[in-house]
Amino acid sequence: MTSEKNMEDLNLPNVISIDEAYGRFGTDDDGDRDASSSLSVASSAYTFRMEHGRRYHDYKIGSPFPHDEVSDENDFLLHELCLVLLDDRYYLAPIDETSLHCVVDVGTGLGLWAEGVAERFPDSQVVGIDLTPHPRSIFPNCSYMLSDASEEWVLDDPTMKFDLAHIRSLFGSVPDWAALYKNCFDNMNSGGWIEHLEMEINAQTDDAEVPADSQIKFLSSFAHTHMTVASGRDFGISFGMRKLIEEAGFVDVQEKRLKVPLGPWASDPKLKEVGRLCERFYKTGLQGWLMHVCTRSLGGNCYRTKTLSITIISYPSMTSDYAPASRR
Ligand SMILES: C[S@@+](CC[C@H](N)C(=O)[O-])C[C@H]1O[C@@H](n2cnc3c(N)ncnc32)[C@H](O)[C@@H]1O
Repeated sequence: MTSEKNMEDLNLPNVISIDEAYGRFGTDDDGDRDASSSLSVASSAYTFRMEHGRRYHDYKIGSPFPHDEVSDENDFLLHELCLVLLDDRYYLAPIDETSLHCVVDVGTGLGLWAEGVAERFPDSQVVGIDLTPHPRSIFPNCSYMLSDASEEWVLDDPTMKFDLAHIRSLFGSVPDWAALYKNCFDNMNSGGWIEHLEMEINAQTDDAEVPADSQIKFLSSFAHTHMTVASGRDFGISFGMRKLIEEAGFVDVQEKRLKVPLGPWASDPKLKEVGRLCERFYKTGLQGWLMHVCTRSLGGNCYRTKTLSITIISYPSMTSDYAPASRR
C-alpha cells in the first residue's frame, strides 16, 4: 500500500497532459481507428483461424504454416541455433559495418533477427516485413511492415534503400521467389548484400548411406515432390535459391553449406549445442510443416499426419544449406 506522502515523492503531475501529435492514426466519429487504406489491409491480417488444434493467420491465405505458441518456440530455437552455428554473427556477408545504414529482414516472424541487429547496430534502421502482425518493436531503430514481400514494397520512407536484405527460413512459404528477390534488388543500394539462409528438410549421414526405407528420406522426397506441388511453394528452395538470386540481378553470389547435427551427439561442444537445438527445432516444427498441406491438399487426416510426424523424428544427421551471400 502507498501512503499519500509516498505518492507525492514520485513527483507525478496531478493530470498528465496529452501530446496532441501522438498516434499515427486519428479516430473517426464513431471512435473507431481510422479507415485508411493501410488499416483496411492490416485489419484483415488480424484474423486467425484454428485448424486441427493449430492457429493460422488468414491474410491472403499466406504461409501454410501455423502461427501459435508452438511455432513461436520453433522460431526461437532456429534463431538460437543460427547464432551458435554462425559464432554469434547475424550475417556472414562481408559488409563494412560502418556502411550498414538500412537493413531489411524479409519474413521477419517474431522479429528475433531484426531486433538483434537493431540492438547490435544502434545507428542503423532495421525494417522487418511479414505477412502477419508483429508485437511492438523493442528498439527505436526497428520497425515492422505488414506486407507480402513478393508484392511491391510500400515503405514509410519511399527514399529508403537497404544495404542488407536478410531472409531466413521461408521454405514452403513463398509462391513467387523471383518476385521476392526482385523486390529485394529493387529496394537496395548498389553494393548492398542479400543473405538467405535455409535449412534442408532432408537428413544425411557422414559415414553411410541413409537407408532407402528411412522415414526421413521419405519425408524429404515427399516434401520436395508432393508438398511442393500441392502447396505451390518450394520446400526445397535451398537448392534453387542461388540461380534465382542471380536471375534477380545479384552478382558475386557465394554459397556456404554447413552441417547441422540432428541431436546432441557430436563431441564438439558447439556442434553438440547446435544438434540439441536442431532436434528441438525439428520436433517442434515438423507437425506444423506437414499439417496444413497434408490435410488440405493431399487428402490426409489429422491423426495420420500426427502419426507420420512422430514416426519421422528418428534419424541422426541432417545438413543445412547456407546460401548465398550475394552483392547487388
Ligand atoms: C518460419 S518463420 C521465420 C521467421 C524469421 N525469418 C526467423 O528466421 O526467425 C516464416 C515467416 O515468414 C513469413 N512469410 C511467409 N511468406 C511471406 C511473404 N510472402 N511475405 C512476408 N512474410 C512472409 C511468415 O508469416 C512467417 O512469419
